Amino acid sequence: MAQLYDFGLVGLGVMGRNFLLNVADHHFSAIGLDTDDKKVKDLKNEGQLDNIDGTIDKVEFINKLAKPRKIMLLVPAGEPVDHVITDLLPLLDSGDLIIDGGNSHFEDTNRRFHSLKSKDIHFMGAGISGGSEGARRGPSIMPGGDPKAYELIKPIFEAVAAKVSNEPCVDFMGQGSAGNYVKMIHNGIEYAMMQLIGESYHIMKLGLQQDNAQLKQTYFDWNKGDLQSFLIEITSQIFDKSDELTSSDLIDQILDKAKQKGTGKWTSQNAMNLGIAIPTIDAAVSMRQISSMKDARMKASVKYLQVTQDSLSQVSVEEVRDALYFAFIMSYVQGMDQLSRASKEYQYDLNLELIAKIWRGGCIIRARFLEAVRLAYKKDSSLESLLLSPVIVERVNAVVDNTRKVVQYTVAKGIPTLALSNSLNYFDAFKSAHLPLNLIQAQRDFFGSHTYERNDRQDVFHSDWN
Ligand code: 6PG
Repeated sequence: MAQLYDFGLVGLGVMGRNFLLNVADHHFSAIGLDTDDKKVKDLKNEGQLDNIDGTIDKVEFINKLAKPRKIMLLVPAGEPVDHVITDLLPLLDSGDLIIDGGNSHFEDTNRRFHSLKSKDIHFMGAGISGGSEGARRGPSIMPGGDPKAYELIKPIFEAVAAKVSNEPCVDFMGQGSAGNYVKMIHNGIEYAMMQLIGESYHIMKLGLQQDNAQLKQTYFDWNKGDLQSFLIEITSQIFDKSDELTSSDLIDQILDKAKQKGTGKWTSQNAMNLGIAIPTIDAAVSMRQISSMKDARMKASVKYLQVTQDSLSQVSVEEVRDALYFAFIMSYVQGMDQLSRASKEYQYDLNLELIAKIWRGGCIIRARFLEAVRLAYKKDSSLESLLLSPVIVERVNAVVDNTRKVVQYTVAKGIPTLALSNSLNYFDAFKSAHLPLNLIQAQRDFFGSHTYERNDRQDVFHSDWN
């Protein structure tokens, strides 16, 4: 009898091929399906293992999978996912499992989950982070759906995931679309961290006049301390890369327009729907939008007065480092608070300690600080906000003064730091026992009789303001 494979993967792009090879490295047999014959041949050539196969024939693919079939899709989010599902569905048997490993919108996952459930097919949305290298060597995996279906794929996911202290960076996130939701928030935090690192680069380049060699060293040094993270590590390496087409550094030849596939924007849109403030993440999305207006920016750059405040005292590299650490903390605070709200709103029943734990390795936002986040939720799983945890208070208090100094400096110098300054303002607002929003209430009642509550007694009131 022909060999039956443990795992099937649809979409043999770089991510798909690498994930499949990772599965095969861990002694599971795996078969890939792609419409592109070359990708199938490349897989077979690269694999050189007898536990790997590939095909362009969906019937062969389905027939060669052991039942219940475990099929992962690594195809672009959106319509391609629906196409593949529609294509495979008539060939599947009751109890088979389809896993969408792409960055699908969680509402699409809900729709697919319910539609396939009615056909007795398990569907799982699994966020996978770590890029192509992570897929090959160990990603962080965020699966959600039906806990019983997770048991089918658990041994494979635990084998291929990144490990921290011998523990796999994967766990069941929750019902329905919980996996894609958690991955979306991961990406929102990723956007924030990337933007904040960009702002620190801007400050040190324009303000502190660091050249690329110094920047490389600065980020390298930072990566040994509290800021230790994958994104700081690769940033140091980026400043070390020379351009193959000219004699300059590659970073200086890259156009300053950042693209986006949408997960950061979805995080912001969803935060608005949930009534959660995530201004650091919003700023990161807005900065990608502002960056894309290159022509208008060029025109504006010669229309306005240049900043003249040169007498302001300098900031040090250490102060910039502290400001970046402060804002990293605010990014995690906002992302975790959004997860906490979504968990109730969508009945995901998320375990935030577990999420912090599986983000410590493999994923793009992996960072030393996540251990503090994990500890905070271990001590109190029902935290109203991560900012209320003593573990976090101590860290924030240690760096907030330097953050103020850096923000003052960038405002005076005209260096845009939308994400950094939003982080500080978010913090200042959050820790204010009194905000001036009593005035908003008065205005609303003045022009629209919207009523207000009082400090000194219960009930709702309306005044005749004229
Ligand atoms: C990851 C990344 C990955 C991808 C981003 C890029 O966790 O491995 O988040 O999913 O690189 O989606 O997103 P943008 O194109 O929107 O920057």
